Amino acid sequence: MTVRTVKKADGVDAEGAAGTADGAGAVSAQVFRDVMACLAMPVAVVSTVDAAGRWHGATLGSVVSLSLDPPLVMFALGHGTGVHRPVCDSRRFCVSILAAEQRETAERFAGPAADRFAGDVVLLDGLPAVGAAAGWLACTRTELVEAGDHTIVIGRIDDALRGPQGAGGPLLYHQRRYHRLGGPAELYQTAYARRPA
Ligand SMILES: Cc1cc2nc3c(=O)[nH]c(=O)nc-3n(C[C@H](O)[C@H](O)[C@H](O)COP(=O)(O)O)c2cc1C
Repeated sequence: MTVRTVKKADGVDAEGAAGTADGAGAVSAQVFRDVMACLAMPVAVVSTVDAAGRWHGATLGSVVSLSLDPPLVMFALGHGTGVHRPVCDSRRFCVSILAAEQRETAERFAGPAADRFAGDVVLLDGLPAVGAAAGWLACTRTELVEAGDHTIVIGRIDDALRGPQGAGGPLLYHQRRYHRLGGPAELYQTAYARRPA
């Protein structure tokens, strides 16, 4: 076994220079983002309907399976996002787990709010959700936990369904790019297109 203390000088920031923190132990937002970009995230769309019947949704990477008994899911919503109020105010929401083929959907739900539901929409227990997803969770909100500039939303799963693309790979987000298992989506698609008929 070898044990070695990692020093600040061992770190490499986005520009390739050594260093991990600025000031007296305060990690800069940029370094924090760069380090967290090393973490591969799942990609999901969280959606809800408000009291006036308007649909709201956004692409999230923070969706995590939290508990089996009872079945709970959680995710973190930035206070500044347009979906924060509608999701925190509504009693119910839906999580659409995106499949590897759904990169455009992920981009749409992170883009201008007016365009988000322009694609294939399905209704799950009356909640709007993304069509042809890998899976769907219809949830009832149980808890909101404030954490820094985000709210952790916890929901009990009322309904869980595997979608038509459930057996395929998930869409992932890593180093600020979308990927599928086995390599970046573009590379995989190129190899796939070239396979023998
Ligand atoms: C891959 C990916 C993952 C994201 N994950 C989150 C997340 O977990 N929480 C969050 O608040 N925003 C997340 N976002 C950003 C939201 O999608 C985006 O800020 C939000 O939709 C902003 O739009 P709005 O303010 O108009 O709602 C993510 C964006 C992308 C592209």
